[in-house]
Amino acid sequence: MAMAVSTRGSEPIRFAYWVPNVSGGLVISKIPQRTSWDADYNRRLAQIAEAAGFDYALTQIRFTAGYGAEYQHESVAFSHALLAATSRLKVIAALLPGPWNPTLAAKQVATIAELTGGRIAVNIVSGWFSGEFRAIGEPWLDHDERYRRSEEFIRSLKGIWTQDNFSFRGDFYRYADYTLKPKPSAGLPEIFQGGSSRAARDMAARVSDWYFTNGNTPENIRAQVEDVQAKARENGHAVRIGVNAFVIARDTEAEARAVLQEIIDHADPEAVKAFGHEVKNAGKASPEGEGNWAKSSFEDLVQYNDGFKTNLIGTPDQIAERIVALKDVGVDLALLGFLHFQEDVQYFGAHVIPRVRALEAARERRAEAA
Ligand SMILES: Cc1cc2nc3c(=O)[nH]c(=O)nc-3n(C[C@H](O)[C@H](O)[C@H](O)COP(=O)(O)O)c2cc1C
Repeated sequence: MAMAVSTRGSEPIRFAYWVPNVSGGLVISKIPQRTSWDADYNRRLAQIAEAAGFDYALTQIRFTAGYGAEYQHESVAFSHALLAATSRLKVIAALLPGPWNPTLAAKQVATIAELTGGRIAVNIVSGWFSGEFRAIGEPWLDHDERYRRSEEFIRSLKGIWTQDNFSFRGDFYRYADYTLKPKPSAGLPEIFQGGSSRAARDMAARVSDWYFTNGNTPENIRAQVEDVQAKARENGHAVRIGVNAFVIARDTEAEARAVLQEIIDHADPEAVKAFGHEVKNAGKASPEGEGNWAKSSFEDLVQYNDGFKTNLIGTPDQIAERIVALKDVGVDLALLGFLHFQEDVQYFGAHVIPRVRALEAARERRAEAA
């Protein structure tokens, strides 16, 4: 049986950042932000992130406004623009089954892989915004049905990318002797997936390369990691873990905490409450009540994916130690959001990543000595 892969031990933890391809940044707050959702800002940000030591950029997919995200650039086209502006960074394009089908997605992503030396990856999202589905005429499936469709979507992508004469008979997608040419030649695009519910975890433990979860404390993350990895081992499947966090790194802890307070003080209460209602409702059909936002408070919801809970808020030393603590509980990748993206990513690259690498190296030396 294949063992689940993890960066625990010798592999360095990876860093990804949320691409602000949606207006309003990563917080539902009216605090002034220097982040912009436009193309030029994002191309420059991708270059800054690449130079700062980030491995991945994650684009978002939204089809309609809601809760502060008035304008949205499409994820696949935008990912390609970022890839064209960089040379090492991998860009993860979000795909929403429903609007996308696996045929188009497999072909589109294979072509981008060819154009970029295999630097494109995908994030298969399962939907939380029923109003968006209604607006674009997509049926709103029950929570666990959405994951059943996503799993068929992933199985279809993998089949199309790896097999000639691919045949598949699912409830959502069907293929008969389909051969994609050319197939991705620079390795298979990695498949990411988000969620915390039972359905999300089980899908990750069967088919995804990466499981992304909302921000949380190391203890709660540990429980999730152990759960997903135990199931993955049973399935003979290897999956890695990414955790969301909103970073506020400043020279003093007091400064960082003051920025957090300012973000929360400027929160748009109506939008935060409406977002909370929508996401909790989206997870209701998830029977076990462990969904991404099942336990989120008002303050947690000011950051779309509970990123304050991970507590990467403080000085570079404090943040580096907390990142290594995440690694200790089985996290392979930190997915990061920021307030003023360009400046904050630069600061993170200059002050936090080197400290993380130094801590990792010290641990490595201790492990070798032992
Ligand atoms: C890191 C991450 C990124 C996500 N990106 C998107 C996105 O771009 N668009 C979207 O509609 N949903 C996105 N989602 C939502 C998930 O696909 C999923 O619908 C949600 O997490 C449901 O969680 P649950 O199964 O725990 O209830 C994202 C989730 C996570 C954790």
